[in-house]
Amino acid sequence: MQPRLVTFDEAYFADPHRAAAELADDGPINRFTSPSGTQGWLVTSYELARTVLAHPEVGKSPSAMLGATSPIDPDSVAAKIQNAATRALNSHMLGADPPEHAVLRAAVAERFTPAATAEITPRIEEFTAQLIDAMDPARPVDLVQDFAFPLPVGIICDILGLPRRHLRRIGHASSVLSDLIVASPIEQRGAATDFMRLILPYLALRRFRPRDDLLTAIAAQHRNGVLDVSQSISTVALLLIAGHETTSNLIINTTLELLTNPVERERIRLDPDRIGSVIDETLRADPPVPVTTLREAKSDFDLADQRIHRGDWILVSLLAANHDPAVIKDPAEFDPDRKPNRHLAFGHGIHYCLGARLARTEARIALTQLFERYPNLTLAEPREKLSWRQSVVFRRLQRLPVRLAPTPNP
Ligand code: HEM
Repeated sequence: MQPRLVTFDEAYFADPHRAAAELADDGPINRFTSPSGTQGWLVTSYELARTVLAHPEVGKSPSAMLGATSPIDPDSVAAKIQNAATRALNSHMLGADPPEHAVLRAAVAERFTPAATAEITPRIEEFTAQLIDAMDPARPVDLVQDFAFPLPVGIICDILGLPRRHLRRIGHASSVLSDLIVASPIEQRGAATDFMRLILPYLALRRFRPRDDLLTAIAAQHRNGVLDVSQSISTVALLLIAGHETTSNLIINTTLELLTNPVERERIRLDPDRIGSVIDETLRADPPVPVTTLREAKSDFDLADQRIHRGDWILVSLLAANHDPAVIKDPAEFDPDRKPNRHLAFGHGIHYCLGARLARTEARIALTQLFERYPNLTLAEPREKLSWRQSVVFRRLQRLPVRLAPTPNP
């Protein structure tokens, strides 16, 4: 079958679900080209997604994190800028293959175990309550800026040991660096430089003044020769980016679902423990990360009926896979009672999300407290007027204006 070319254009951003459904009709693998010119294969079926994400001949490379136009012209200015950024900020686990991947993941994994997540849970509860206290019920509130963004970034700052006052700066740099398929090389360089200026002094400080935090653990692994300096900075940057953009999208997407789905909202009111299933169904139906990061073919091989060549980029659409009718019954239905709910929102294979447990915990606490405190929460603008950020990697509303409490009668 001749593959279709997906362009990630206005129509895609306006309605990625429809685009994904149309792709499913065109076979399990298509071609894509991104706004910044990256071209490659786009996998859309559930089974092929799992195959690719665990395929021995499909892997990562530092430039796969950068979404270079393939093949790279090493003498181009863009390649030079990207190469500098590659070394400095992309030497982390999500850009690495085995055996290096295991070393990079193990360096921080103990802060994301069930016990570590349980330990940080009171802090998540406390910070959530503070953010809710700070919102003014007398006027419309933007839940993205005032709630869903600061919560996860504040918590990942706590885990790392970075002061929360850097929250906004982290938000700006990470929104550029998290969407490298879209951002220009100049924007990438600016954001990468800012991130390095932020992270490096803290890592240096922790070498001499250790504390009980993840920055100290990373600085110690650098001192012991486990991580080099680029790997240390990159790991911190990865956690800052992966640890908040994603989770804030999940909190917002689930809130939006509950605000526009009265049946589900009533069920949650009667049975608050149901929130976990609603969060998981949101992860399936509207994954916060609709596509994985890029993969690179390490040799020539066939996928479905297409010949893949060494060096080709491959992107997996988790959104399309989560709506594959061959595996997911009635994929367009929002049904938290699916058992099991076999979505791929956290990826698959060795790069399966390290923070999945933390993300679910943050989302559960955020939604529970928000709807408990403000049971009459409503949208302050019609759903059709809400605008989504033009991002390939994240499904994110620009703003979510809400009224926390009913407006008093004049
Ligand atoms: C709802 C929230 C989240 C979603 C939907 C999500 C999704 C994902 C996905 C799809 C991947 C795999 C990407 C790929 O294969 O290209 C991934 C990897 C990763 N995520 Fe998350 N993530 C979330 C929250 C978090 C949090 C809170 C953290 C931690 C601070 C985190 C840290 C990571 C890391 C470190 C990786 C790379 C793992 C590796 O390469 O071994 N994520 N995430």
